[in-house]
Order: sequence, then structure tokens, then C-alpha cells
Amino acid sequence: MFKAPQISKCKLVYLPKVKDVRGNLTFIEGDEHIPFPIKRVYYLYDVPGGESRGGHAHKDLQQFLIAANGSFDVVLDDGHNKERYHLNRSYYGLYIPNLIWRELDNFSSGSVCLVLASEKYDEDDYIRDYDELKKANDDANSLDI
Ligand code: TYD
Repeated sequence: MFKAPQISKCKLVYLPKVKDVRGNLTFIEGDEHIPFPIKRVYYLYDVPGGESRGGHAHKDLQQFLIAANGSFDVVLDDGHNKERYHLNRSYYGLYIPNLIWRELDNFSSGSVCLVLASEKYDEDDYIRDYDELKKANDDANSLDI
């Protein structure tokens, strides 16, 4: 049976935007606008020019990334397919399921990457070896054949 590549589950999600002359407002509800309940929030900021973050995947964790300020690029990779996204608005974000290698780069000055996560921090959930990520996706695919 054909199984869609893991990378096809990654997607940009447009969020509600309440326009107001006093300033716009965007909100996110777990299991509503994004497909998981939110258990953790963290953010990347003061990223020096030319630096990159990420360089790993997760066994189970799902995440949602928003450029809360400024812009940056996210390169996603399931071991076979690669996609680059440019995030530069606060009213949409990028959903990343498990088993996706991610690299964040091209941070603009003053940018803030807001991350919503489906689980609390767990170092054991990290896949820091690219070949291991590739194998995990291949194994997941072969289970469905
Ligand atoms: P890491 O996820 O490797 O950062 P990035 O992928 O953005 O480069 O996290 C860097 C360090 O921060 C890691 O060694 C542990 C710590 N950390 C926490 O303690 N809690 C968290 O929720 C996160 C995301 C990281």
C-alpha cells in the first residue's frame, strides 16, 4: 500500500486574525487550529546573524513554528524529500509532525521564533543522527506494506 511521505504532513496553517486599528490580534487553540494539545511553549530570540538552529528530528513530538517577529527559513527533511519554508508573518505558522529533520536559518535581525510543542521537554525524544531519522521513516513506511 502506498504511504504518503512524512514530509507531506508538514503544512502552513493560517491562523485567525482579529484586525483592529489598535493593533491586530491572533490566537491559537490546541486541537483546534493546530492538530495537538499544547503542552509546552518556547522561543528562539537574539539569534546572531548567520547562525542556524535545529539539526535534529523527534520520535514523537509535534511542533508548530511561528515567526512572532522578523523572519527565518525552515528546511524540513524526512530522509528522502526536502522542503524550505520562509516564515515572516505572525498570522500563520508551520506544522511539523514527528520524524522530520529540521534546520532553521536565515534569521533576520530581531527575529523571534515561537514554538508550540505537543509534549514537555524530553531529551530521549530527540533524533540527532540523520541516518537514524531516515531509517525510522523507512521502518514506519515498511510497517504499512
Ligand atoms: P535544542 O532543542 O537542541 O535547540 P535547537 O533545536 O533550537 O537548536 O535545545 C537546546 C538546549 O536547550 C537543549 O540542550 C536543552 C534546552 N532545552 C530545554 O531545556 N527545554 C526545552 O524545551 C528546549 C526546546 C530546549
